[in-house]
Amino acid sequence: MRPILLVGGSGMLGSTLSPLLRASSCVVVHGHLAQADVRADVTDASQARALLDRVRPAAIVNLAGHTNVDTCEREPNQAYRLNVRIVENLVSWMSLQDSPPVLVHVSTDQLYDGEGPHLEDDVTLSNTYALTKYAGELAALRVPATVLRTNFFGPSRCAGRSSFTDWLLDGMRGGQALKVFDDLRFSPLSMSTLGRAISAVIRAPAAGVFNLGSADGMSKADFAFAFAQALDLPTASMERTTTDRVDFLKTYRPKDMRMDSTAFEVAFDMRLPLLAQELQLTCEEYRREPSPARP
Ligand SMILES: NC(=O)c1ccc[n+]([C@@H]2O[C@H](COP(=O)([O-])OP(=O)(O)OC[C@H]3O[C@@H](n4cnc5c(N)ncnc54)[C@H](OP(=O)(O)O)[C@@H]3O)[C@@H](O)[C@H]2O)c1
Repeated sequence: MRPILLVGGSGMLGSTLSPLLRASSCVVVHGHLAQADVRADVTDASQARALLDRVRPAAIVNLAGHTNVDTCEREPNQAYRLNVRIVENLVSWMSLQDSPPVLVHVSTDQLYDGEGPHLEDDVTLSNTYALTKYAGELAALRVPATVLRTNFFGPSRCAGRSSFTDWLLDGMRGGQALKVFDDLRFSPLSMSTLGRAISAVIRAPAAGVFNLGSADGMSKADFAFAFAQALDLPTASMERTTTDRVDFLKTYRPKDMRMDSTAFEVAFDMRLPLLAQELQLTCEEYRREPSPARP
């Protein structure tokens, strides 16, 4: 059986996605520096080709990327290499195959700004991370790929990588000062739900660009307080603010990244949950496992 190859599968989303896919499929997890089934620097075309020739996947899920917004701004070429060049290398190899694999490429809600919820053609690029992720999408679309624009939270199972909810939980438990933003709005999914959605895409792919988020959305500040309330965490150290009142954000962040994911629901016949439902699901995961192992 040809496997599913998770490029960048050693990262945060891959660490939740890989066990989920392994329940029903053969999966090969790729990493660069971290522990993984196979390791390669796939920004290098010859290493990418050698990896793909060896694994001969039936499907590739590309999770590799440069995800730190501030570092992308400071290091645009590195952002290009990880967010675009890797996709170009995967697609170049695919274009030479008689029976090319399915490609699922994971993109971001940072491609939007201005009043949401946004449809797929409502792109506004406001920082280098967004610009390079958009260029990566264009590279992926040179073959019949499924591009999923998303955002996610939940317990990270990846060493050295914390999700938004991990950051909130650790901060509130430790009484650290947390500033949460009233003027940033988003519509993320839990990593578990996102993993199930990606699994459905692999089973019955449809080419194109799709938003993949919760059915509504809220501000990051409302999300943080709802999360705290659901887990009965102390909120004394958490302060509502707006992005123009802090000086630690070096790079502009889009204000309203809420997505309209109707096209995904129609194409993949899947009803997406409300953000409050996703929060409850994630809180149950944290209750079951208060400090998830990050190997
Ligand atoms: N994190 C978020 O909140 C978020 C939100 C929206 C969208 N996304 C998108 O979701 C996807 C997954 O995000 P994530 O947070 O899981 O990413 P992540 O934890 O930063 O993982 C990135 C992956 O890329 C690999 N990588 C780095 N340099 C590489 C290279 N030169 N060659 C090959 N692989 C390399 C890393 O490998 P090693 O670790 O082994 O070095 C790691 O497996 C990304 O495309 C991101 O843009 C993320």
